[in-house]
Formats: sequence, C-alpha cells, structure tokens
Amino acid sequence: MPLATARVATDRPARYIRQLVSHMGHKASTALTPDGRGTITVAAGSCTLTPAPDRLELTATAADAASLTLVQDVITRHLVRFATREELTVEWSAPADGAELELLAPVVGEYLLSHHTPADEVLMELATATREATAGAAEMQVSADEGALLTMLTRLTGARFAVEVGVFTGYSTLCIARGLADGGRLLACDVSEEWTAIGRPYWARAGVADRIDLRIAPALTTLRALDTEPVVDIAFIDADKENYPAYYEEIVPRLRPGGLVVLDNVFLGGRVLDPAYQEGRHLAMRRLNDLIASDERVDAVMLPVRDGVTIARRR
Ligand SMILES: C[S@@+](CC[C@H](N)C(=O)[O-])C[C@H]1O[C@@H](n2cnc3c(N)ncnc32)[C@H](O)[C@@H]1O
Repeated sequence: MPLATARVATDRPARYIRQLVSHMGHKASTALTPDGRGTITVAAGSCTLTPAPDRLELTATAADAASLTLVQDVITRHLVRFATREELTVEWSAPADGAELELLAPVVGEYLLSHHTPADEVLMELATATREATAGAAEMQVSADEGALLTMLTRLTGARFAVEVGVFTGYSTLCIARGLADGGRLLACDVSEEWTAIGRPYWARAGVADRIDLRIAPALTTLRALDTEPVVDIAFIDADKENYPAYYEEIVPRLRPGGLVVLDNVFLGGRVLDPAYQEGRHLAMRRLNDLIASDERVDAVMLPVRDGVTIARRR
C-alpha cells in the first residue's frame, strides 16, 4: 500500500489530535488510544497521528496513489484550519510502498557483508549447520555483519554481564559471549531446547560454553526473576516481537549507567512504517520505536543494519 509521512512542528500535537479525531468523527471512523495516538479512516484511506514532544507525526496510507493524495489533503486542510494560533507547515514525504521498503539496496547489503571482520570458521560452520537443520527458519539468524557488531558493542562496553532474549541456534549468543570481559557471563533466554541444542557444540568449540547460562523458559519469566539491581552491561533483544516492549521495560531498569540494550528487527521489513499493517507485532514495534526515541532514561539511535537495529544506552 502506498504511504506518506509528515512531521509537523508544533508544541500542541496532542491537542490537535484530539480536535481532529473529535471533529472528523462525525463523518469518518476515528479512534484515539490512551497514549494519545489518533487514527482517522475516510473512504479514500486512513491516517495515523502520533504526538511527539515537539511535533505531530502523520502517516497516511491508501490503496492507490490518487486515494493517498485525497487522504493527505483532507488531513492537511483540517489540521491547518484548527491551528488558529500558529501557522502549521505540513510537508508530506514522497509516496512509498511499505511492503517494498528496504533499508538497503541488496547490492549495498552485499557490499557491507564483505567489509567487516569476517566470521571465523566456527561461526561459518554454525551458520551452515543451522541452514541444514532448520531450513526456512535459518533466516532468523543474525547476519555476519550484525554478529560482528554485537561482538564489538560487547567489547566496547567492557561487558561482564550480558543478557540475550532469543538464542535460536546461538549465533548471536556466540558473538556476544566472545566479546565479554574475562570472567563475564551471558544469560541467554529461549524457549526451544531443539534449536539451542544445535548451537551448544559450537559454543564449546569457540571456548565460550562456560560463559553462557542458557535458560529454557519464556524470557519474561527469566527476566522478571533477575535481581532488580542495575547490573546488566549489554542486552540483545531478538525474540517474539509482540513482547519487545515488555522485554525492554524489564531490561532498562537493570542496565547499569552506560549499559546498552540492542534491539533487532525494529524495521519489520518496512511494515513498521505502514499503518496498513495492524497485527500485534506491528503495533508493538511501532509503539516501542516511538517510546524509545523519547525515553529519558536512554540515549538511542536506530541504525539501518539489516532489518533495523536500535541501540539504546542507559543514561
Ligand atoms: C529471531 S530468533 C533469534 C535469532 C538469534 N538471535 C540468532 O542470531 O540466531 C527468535 C528466537 O526467539 C525465541 N523465542 C520466541 N518466543 C520466546 C519467548 N517467549 N521467550 C524466549 N524465547 C522466545 C524463539 O524460540 C527463537 O529461537
């Protein structure tokens, strides 16, 4: 579906959203969530309105380009009309297709894959074993460049205690474990005995098996059982997307100042940008991305690495 976004500078985003939702509710289908987001659906398509500290963010979507223009026009006209005390500038991005958005052109992705410190034999053999044993599921594994990034971030933080949510066959686990300082520990959470068993021999071959404490249980149960002291140096979240916000909320208070939480797949193949996608994982990731950007507990950056990686550092 084509979509377009606009960021409207204003210090009254919540007020405009309420006004628009209330007024347009007479002719359109509208909704307002408890956290202040509005959705307005007209015959031509729909628009979500999200408040941010200094702006109003709009995302319009429709079945085709002509309908998208109609949605953009109706929202822009109403918004400008309601802003009696300031002159709003609503500049829409060029239309894009959420399902076809790619962070990187494939050729660029390939170039990046051949320009990082290469994976060693153990990692390459683990990747091969994963493909052979898990078929299509193997695409869940982090790429070699993302793995190198995890090792580097773990080393940069001098991590002694790391947490991983989503092990699969343990490629990212191995990358994090390798970056730990001497005596460091990695608490690795997953629900699958079968998949994690594939990784164990490779952790042993790499000489890091004794650093990894694998817990087979729902990750939320494992995280909630942790001490609430801020002792985590680095955490990597790469499991079921609906639970990302809950994982984030369990981890951030446990990060030491300067500690990192790294989140994978924050782009959801472009679907996070397209309001046409309304499944639980899309809603959860959209909300979490917005929350992290304005979370005063952390400094955060979203990187175009593979399917999007956010790094948030505890202040
Ligand atoms: C994308 S894969 C992780 C990939 C891994 N980081 C790697 O590089 O190979 C997601 C993993 O999350 C696990 N998972 C799903 N739901 C979970 C839950 N509630 N608690 C813990 N792990 C879960 C799945 O079993 C799966 O192994």
